[in-house]
Amino acid sequence: MSAYGYRERKFFVEDVPFDALAAAYGTPLYVYSKKTILGDIRRIEQAFHGLPHLTYYAVKANANPALLRLIAGEGLGADVGSRGELWRALQEGFPPERCTFSGVGKRDDEILYALEQGILAFNVESTQEIEVINELAAQVNKRARILLRVNLDIDAGGHAYVSTSLRHNKFGMPHARALEVLRHAASLSNIDVGGVHSHIGSQITKPAVFTKAAEAIAALVSGLRAGGVPVHDVDFGGGFGIQYHGFVHHRSLPAEHAEEAHLSTAELLQPAVEVLRSLGCTVSIQPGRSIVAHGGVLLTRVLYRKETAEKIFLIQDGAMNDLIRPALYHAHHQIVPVELVGAPFETVDVVGPVCESGDFFAHDRRIQVMQRGDLMALMCAGAYGYVQSSTYNARPRPAEVLVDGGTHTVIRRRQTVEEL
Ligand code: LLP
Repeated sequence: MSAYGYRERKFFVEDVPFDALAAAYGTPLYVYSKKTILGDIRRIEQAFHGLPHLTYYAVKANANPALLRLIAGEGLGADVGSRGELWRALQEGFPPERCTFSGVGKRDDEILYALEQGILAFNVESTQEIEVINELAAQVNKRARILLRVNLDIDAGGHAYVSTSLRHNKFGMPHARALEVLRHAASLSNIDVGGVHSHIGSQITKPAVFTKAAEAIAALVSGLRAGGVPVHDVDFGGGFGIQYHGFVHHRSLPAEHAEEAHLSTAELLQPAVEVLRSLGCTVSIQPGRSIVAHGGVLLTRVLYRKETAEKIFLIQDGAMNDLIRPALYHAHHQIVPVELVGAPFETVDVVGPVCESGDFFAHDRRIQVMQRGDLMALMCAGAYGYVQSSTYNARPRPAEVLVDGGTHTVIRRRQTVEEL
């Protein structure tokens, strides 16, 4: 059962009404539901049930310390993309041997730090990077386990900015070159070859895309083995698409439909899991969004209502600096009123106070008539929300609050103007 819903007219997260959170902490405010995050972790584990696997949470999706502690407590590992993420993950209880390091441009100091900490593996992206890791490992007398990220030239669909496995993308090495690159890697003194890695994109909603990737990986693994490269580990990446449209249902909310039907993580991944099962490898996954997106909401307040000949604008106190996904990817976040007043629907632009027209949360959105002072909840904002926030226009970053049943705790206080 969802942790979000209306009781009478008021919108709740678990047992806490959103208006109480706004009164206690102010807006804009990121609100997280512990129950939702734990439930989503279980659903992902269920989807991979029956396949020996390791789950590495992609820290880039949300690096709040308290949430990392929560996720580490569930026994997950962490996939990091920078020294900062690794430091943070270690601080919050992820053991180094359950950390992997991905990313197309790792600095020498980042590699050395990861080697010193004793992380499990580097997901590497080029021959030069492998050579640098080998040299640095030799300097500090360590061995580095590597998985080669391969570019499978698969169209993952979705927004071009989050598609990572097309031939022209910067990520990975062409799969046709994997044998040559890994043979070379195996010949280096301080490198252990684990296997291969792929991460084809994010917010992928079609099972066929994952199945195609799994089949390409399976063919690659057989080819590598036939060529004398033993492959023990396959890291299948993340990218599991989640529901954004119509996440909250209520007869007093306008119906929202996505272009395609929403599938559960299990439905999305099941055919791919069958293919991966046949590999005889330890499979890793790196979900980010599917662990934290549904668990987070951005709570904002209407500052002004402005009507022009063309539009009705609801100007919020939250802005693109707090949640940039609509501006950057035209991403859809369902917006629901915190109090249902039985007013008719109207079509509005939901915008922020920042000085550019890219500062919007929604264009031409149907919503009940809202007035100055009313609160709105932007749903599914737990992933790539706060982590992509900025202080543009000298706007301090919002606070973050974790709800657990009837209790709520500040897990990052609001930035102050003096801290800018
Ligand atoms: N592994 C690697 C190597 C990645 O680069 C990513 C995300 C993930 C795993 C996790 O992917 P997920 O399960 O979260 O889809 N800012 C964009 C998404 C960028 C994804 C970047 N890489 C957004 O807001 O949609």
